Amino acid sequence: MTADLPRHPVRHVRNAYVDRARPPGAAERAIMDLAAFERAHREIASWPGYAPTPLVALPGLARRLGLGAVMVKDEGRRFHLESFTALGGAYAVKRLIEERLAASASAADLRDGRWRAATQNLVFATATDGNHGRSVAWGARMFGARSVVFIHENVSAEREAAIAAFGAEMRRVPGDYDNSVRIAAEEAAKNGWIIVADSSVGIDAHAPSLVMQGYGVTMAEIDAVEPAPTHVFVPAGVGGLAAAVAAHLWEAKGAESPRLVVVEPIRADCVFRSIAAGEIAAPLAESDTFMACLAAGEVSPAAWPFLRAAVDDVLALPDAAAADAMRLLAAGRDGDPPIVAGESGAATTAALVAASQDADVRAALGLGPASRVVLFSTEGATDPAVWRETVGRAPPPVQAP
Ligand SMILES: Cc1ncc(COP(=O)(O)O)c(C=O)c1O
Repeated sequence: MTADLPRHPVRHVRNAYVDRARPPGAAERAIMDLAAFERAHREIASWPGYAPTPLVALPGLARRLGLGAVMVKDEGRRFHLESFTALGGAYAVKRLIEERLAASASAADLRDGRWRAATQNLVFATATDGNHGRSVAWGARMFGARSVVFIHENVSAEREAAIAAFGAEMRRVPGDYDNSVRIAAEEAAKNGWIIVADSSVGIDAHAPSLVMQGYGVTMAEIDAVEPAPTHVFVPAGVGGLAAAVAAHLWEAKGAESPRLVVVEPIRADCVFRSIAAGEIAAPLAESDTFMACLAAGEVSPAAWPFLRAAVDDVLALPDAAAADAMRLLAAGRDGDPPIVAGESGAATTAALVAASQDADVRAALGLGPASRVVLFSTEGATDPAVWRETVGRAPPPVQAP
């Protein structure tokens, strides 16, 4: 049945510390909870161009893998930023502006420049592999503020140009992602800029929590899907998106939650190692991977309590699996609609294909004909050159949802 699908090895760890029967406690709810997700949803739904991203059924792939249903939450069609990160950085910028103004300013008022005298002096800074920086730059421009975005030496020129197009001042720094995070924090402290990081490593958890509250909107959009999924696959870099999905399912569904499976590159497996150990693992010395946006060496401490309590399994994959999944999704085989997924976006499809073909992992995850699997495809062709080289043609124009 799956003979002509690509085969790749997959590593699996079961989380021995899942604790979803207990409701989230006060410390967890201070980071994010359903009320925070609802607030983020109301806010983001008021922005121009908002529409829920589609949940695309792939019955051909489900048949081929011997599963009941496969559905892709296509974040490649999120605003015109083509990734779920549009929800996080920009939302944090909006909330932090309101905190600085000490007033509730609507998105429309900020966009119309009614607060310009105050907002034009606010500078938001962040480090990024690509997508998060785009969101911060977009939010800063949309709400009348400025942004400075730090990128490391491996961030492609196309990703840099895409962030600069939103008006950010770009700073390329030597070394890897972790180095760019450190330099961004130092420069922000020196210049009085406001840091909007997606990880809370080494900094206060407030801004990273707001980022995750924005991310929670993508899960909220599919909360009511019927029949309910049995499995949800989500990729992890620092773990922010996975934590937001975990937090949502934990509070909304408790012990009835679908099984939550986190997907990582083997070369950047910080969540895998942490879940195996039951505590945040030491930072990886190297985390470079084809899945560019998952290239994180350390779990975000603000994400960790949700990952530990409400993630069931972690799967780690080789880079080649993601490239094959990009081609599979782009082709639209067996009558399935084609999906444009970037190298990090395709990771969950790659994981499902690999796990379904490995008898042990398939059994361990409880995958079978009754399974209804939701895969978060977190980005479209956010690096068009990489998509073109991998798939063999230029990415098609983005379709609005
Ligand atoms: C496309 C894409 N997928 C997945 C992730 C991983 O998210 P997180 O770092 O919150 O785990 C990111 C992070 O920016 C991303 O841009």
